[in-house]
Amino acid sequence: MSMADDLDARARAILEKNDRGGYTVPTARLYPYQWNWDSAFVALGFATFDRDRAWRELEMLLEGQWPDGMIPHILFRRDDPDYFPGPSVWRANLGPIPSGGISQPPVLASVVRMLVEGGGAEDARRGAATVERIAAWHRWWHTARTPDGCATVATVHPWETGRDNCPDWTVGLDAMTVPDDLMPYTRMDTTHANPAQRPSTAQYDRFVAIIQAGRELSWDQKALTETGPFLMADPGLHFILLRADRDLLALAERFGGPVDEIEGWIEAGVAGSDSLWNADIGAFCARDVRGGTFSDGVSSASALAFYADAGTDAQRASTLAHVERIGRAATYLMPSWDPEHPAFEAQRYWCGPLWCQMNRMIAQGLAEAGHDALAARVRDDLAAVIGQSGFFECFDPVSGAGCIGTDFSWTAALWLEWASPSAAKGRAG
Ligand code: GLC
Repeated sequence: MSMADDLDARARAILEKNDRGGYTVPTARLYPYQWNWDSAFVALGFATFDRDRAWRELEMLLEGQWPDGMIPHILFRRDDPDYFPGPSVWRANLGPIPSGGISQPPVLASVVRMLVEGGGAEDARRGAATVERIAAWHRWWHTARTPDGCATVATVHPWETGRDNCPDWTVGLDAMTVPDDLMPYTRMDTTHANPAQRPSTAQYDRFVAIIQAGRELSWDQKALTETGPFLMADPGLHFILLRADRDLLALAERFGGPVDEIEGWIEAGVAGSDSLWNADIGAFCARDVRGGTFSDGVSSASALAFYADAGTDAQRASTLAHVERIGRAATYLMPSWDPEHPAFEAQRYWCGPLWCQMNRMIAQGLAEAGHDALAARVRDDLAAVIGQSGFFECFDPVSGAGCIGTDFSWTAALWLEWASPSAAKGRAG
């Protein structure tokens, strides 16, 4: 058996091992529930060998949708005392399944479109059944999570961006005060993973303070957006939503759905991109909505402009120059944070490590924009670190060492769907 065949077999075994009966945990122990965007990427992996199981993953995610349209970032189908913050901390019981009170990057429509366009009649049938529900979720982003007067979607919690402790959030977290009556809590993540690779205690206090604020507002999402302690606009969420709106439009045109409304979202999204352009850096950056201050570094989310087909020619050229520069500074593209920025830490979670799901989207956008060599490098670099270290949660972009969670579902899935030599046929990015 060749090394690639062996990795293919190991990747399938990881997905099967992490299967909890129709949905997949990201990794045992550290993340024992169903996570939103993890499931979307995991479905792409299952689709390479079991399409029915791929759809089941997405349908089980949709089962957790709240009446207001939100699809939560975590579904707590069965309580696991080994995880903090679990359902008794969130107390966000507005949906059919106990869940977190925030969402996560909306990649679902894009994944559904890929499954539908790469599949047959059964894929079309199951895809069609998701359109109105995904549209309700996008409507939630465009209303409940779009602050009055703000040109783009925003977020109330760094965890909602999926890039939990990226230095992008420093401006917004610094603007917060931690209340004197912060609920007492005990972290569990640092018992399962190396604390030096996880967020700091000061950051964690703020993460918990936002949960407390959500509880006090009974998880009224518009109120949390308008009055909560943290409010930042994120190029990651914005570009992923804009791309997902375009993909949802294609699905709605084919199967029926609110086409005119989606076209309005896309128009607003294209126009709103400019509000995230940090001219001092020459990149799309996160921004504190209330104070107006930009984050001062280039993250992997900055590189998603191509994926969203957003930005002017000059903005795209400047973004590309950053990606090329970072490609010279790091061994492996694309780190989550600029290696030439003082806040870079090669192994601390979103402060440097490279993540397969971000890079899958970045490469797809680069390829669609005609930057084939760079897209291939992003893919080949992921294959190289997986070959060197295995299926980790994320990877040191300088040494290639694996970081934090092992036997990780989306890493296995995106190996199968994208980075493995066996994925070459039909690859999108
Ligand atoms: C971490 C990541 C987030 C991911 C989750 C489960 O919280 O930051 O993006 O969804 O783990 O893998």
